Amino acid sequence: MSERIFSGVQPTGNLHLGNYLGAIRNWVKLQNDYDCLFCVVDLHAITVWQDPAMLRTSTREVAAAMIAAGVDPEKHIIFNQSQVPGHAELAWIFNCVARMGWLGRMTQFKEKAGKDKENASVGLFAYPNLMAADILLYKGTHVPVGEDQKQHLELARDIAQKFNNDYGVDLFPVPEPLILGTATRVMSLKDGSKKMSKSDPSDLSRINMTDDADTIQRKIKKAKTDPDHLPESVQGLDGRPEARNLLGIYAALADVSIESAVNEFAGQQFSALKDRLSDVAVANLAPMQDAYRRLLNDKGQIDAYLAHGAERARAIAGPVLREVQDVVGFLHVGKS
Ligand code: TRP
Repeated sequence: MSERIFSGVQPTGNLHLGNYLGAIRNWVKLQNDYDCLFCVVDLHAITVWQDPAMLRTSTREVAAAMIAAGVDPEKHIIFNQSQVPGHAELAWIFNCVARMGWLGRMTQFKEKAGKDKENASVGLFAYPNLMAADILLYKGTHVPVGEDQKQHLELARDIAQKFNNDYGVDLFPVPEPLILGTATRVMSLKDGSKKMSKSDPSDLSRINMTDDADTIQRKIKKAKTDPDHLPESVQGLDGRPEARNLLGIYAALADVSIESAVNEFAGQQFSALKDRLSDVAVANLAPMQDAYRRLLNDKGQIDAYLAHGAERARAIAGPVLREVQDVVGFLHVGKS
């Protein structure tokens, strides 16, 4: 059976280095080995309130970032979820396959709903069923996942198996996680123990996709450090979150292992690392940022890419959905 990757990314505005090194860059690598669908999940986004104009802008931004980073929109399929109705249709069927108890155990729901569960949207509770539908609508076999999405993928596997069992078919593959050794968890430049985030009030805490060279240099210069020299070994990074973060970012951008990054700066001052990191960051990010800005200035072009991707996605999804409907017993004209 052929291998197909499905991956989704939320349309959050203000993309930064964490989004790039943590997700987008890995997709660029995967596209050589798999047929890929990369989906901007706008249906997932509205499980919490989204301003409509911002949602549209963010959808374009994420698509532009993927393309600017090097995902090929002709070889692979880039689209936004709402343009393929099959996601919502299959999700409904999965709402009837998944059990309340399964969803009640999802840690992301508990975190996002917070104390006021009564006031969370029904969609937020059913979120993982939609995610299962995303993957299985294309009979996806592999899903690149970070730590935070492992539990959701587990649920997608359970849904695939229960559906196959309940109906006595072998329709859905049980999708496998693809754990990426290369994914880098990028932390705040102001606090090495917090994830780099678009919602951090301090803009100095992150490197945005739209920062120019001067801004990148300034932010790296001002990044938090600790008073010691850089360690001689990877173990020496324990308890030193800022050193770990800056060396980790350097290693990722320079495409070297963390060991070799540690060796390169062993015993040196932070300033030596920061100088090198600035150069590497600017050299790596500048071409991508140019492409990103150019694309964002041409909304028609992005929208055309997304429409083309959606058309190809629908062509794969249609027959799968028809197969599912037949198995479930939905009647349609021409069915015996
Ligand atoms: N839930 C994922 C996240 O927040 C996004 C997502 C939606 C996804 N559908 C998916 C990821 C399907 C992988 C496969 O990051």
